[in-house]
Amino acid sequence: MTASGFACSDRFVKALPPPAPRWSGFARYNFIGGHNDPTRIPAAALAEAAQTVLRRNGANLALYNSDGPQGFRGLRAFVVDKVAGRPGIACSVDDVLITSGSGQGLDLVNRLLVERGDTVLLEEFSYQGAISKLRRLGANVVPAPLDDDGLRTDALGRILDDLAHKGIVPKYIYTIPTIQNPTGSILTRERRQELIALSRKHGVPIFEDECYADLLWNADAPPSLYAMDPRQVIHIGSFSKTLAPALRLGYVVAHWDVMSRLVACKRESDSGTGALEQMVVAEYFSKEFGKHVGELTKVLGDKLDTMVDALAKEFGTAVEAWRPKGGIFLWIKLPDAIDVRKLIEPAAAAGIAFNPGPDWACEPAAATSHMRLCFALPSKDDIRMSAAKPIEPCVTCRASRWRKPSPGRKARSKVSCAREPYAHMSKVRRAQ
Ligand SMILES: Cc1ncc(COP(=O)(O)O)c(C=O)c1O
Repeated sequence: MTASGFACSDRFVKALPPPAPRWSGFARYNFIGGHNDPTRIPAAALAEAAQTVLRRNGANLALYNSDGPQGFRGLRAFVVDKVAGRPGIACSVDDVLITSGSGQGLDLVNRLLVERGDTVLLEEFSYQGAISKLRRLGANVVPAPLDDDGLRTDALGRILDDLAHKGIVPKYIYTIPTIQNPTGSILTRERRQELIALSRKHGVPIFEDECYADLLWNADAPPSLYAMDPRQVIHIGSFSKTLAPALRLGYVVAHWDVMSRLVACKRESDSGTGALEQMVVAEYFSKEFGKHVGELTKVLGDKLDTMVDALAKEFGTAVEAWRPKGGIFLWIKLPDAIDVRKLIEPAAAAGIAFNPGPDWACEPAAATSHMRLCFALPSKDDIRMSAAKPIEPCVTCRASRWRKPSPGRKARSKVSCAREPYAHMSKVRRAQ
């Protein structure tokens, strides 16, 4: 008899994530993750840029990190120019580290600051990747509430005071101030100032993730936190959302005291981020960034409207939605009685995938009936046809609960953020 499987699996370390399932392809109607719009990938222009840079600098591929461990100088120079715009950051190429996606920025900052048992402050609903990385490191994740204007600095101040009384100084405050993931809010200027003041008062650095900040419906957002005080803030950004997640490019902007450590950590964990991608993106974006992002944002705004209309048409007030001020996600809430985790399987059977709210919450129970829908990848026709479908199985089995607003509706506002329930979602699903 032939034994199957790896003979020495019993030698694996204990603290591993659960095994990945074998990949069986994407769902036909895919609302998960942070994919981009395939029709907005400028393939021909990228091919041209690749030809240009390979002809010009191809020989540099013979070297690891031809421009040093912080990445291709041309791309760092582009980042310097880009962040000088709306984020208002004044920095030089020496303050920029190119990373393999901003996810690597999260890993590097965690490597720098977080040890098992440390406390870290996060927005109550936040990027699932940030939450899960911290949990895996054994950090104590403390949620701070959100509302329409982003992180509630009044509540954050009280949390910091409480922790200080217990002798706990958090390692950092992680915030997504400009197009919060998942709620889509923008932190106001006043709150940004209050946040910086709290960071100074308590000696807790701010970890600012501006992954979606280039995709704004309205360009007049306040400056980034890093621009307001580079000594208190570590800033990360990404090319995944403005161009293509598969290119795996992001960046960190930080003071040299931080940068010198992050560069050392990155050197230890990889031998540099792919050079060809860096050269191609620098070539393309240094000429086309404004035009590309302007067009992309318009397409995304249209898709959001399509999704909102589809949900409103099908479900009326049974679904609350938070209209994002940019980006690629719609965060919605179903009646309290619905546990969205129970919808995953029936939705998958219908070829539909969505992100369940509990994965995007520091305290999963706070988002049992929330879900996050990415509207960037599916076509408008697919959105029209399927955005409402993940919710249908529970409508069928719990129809009576959908006829009137749930009694918990008032109480929910205390955990709601960027809350703009659509006026036209004022009727319950007519078919019921
Ligand atoms: C807030 C936030 N930060 C970081 C990331 C990581 O993105 P990437 O590694 O593709 O830059 C994501 C991905 O969706 C995100 O939503």
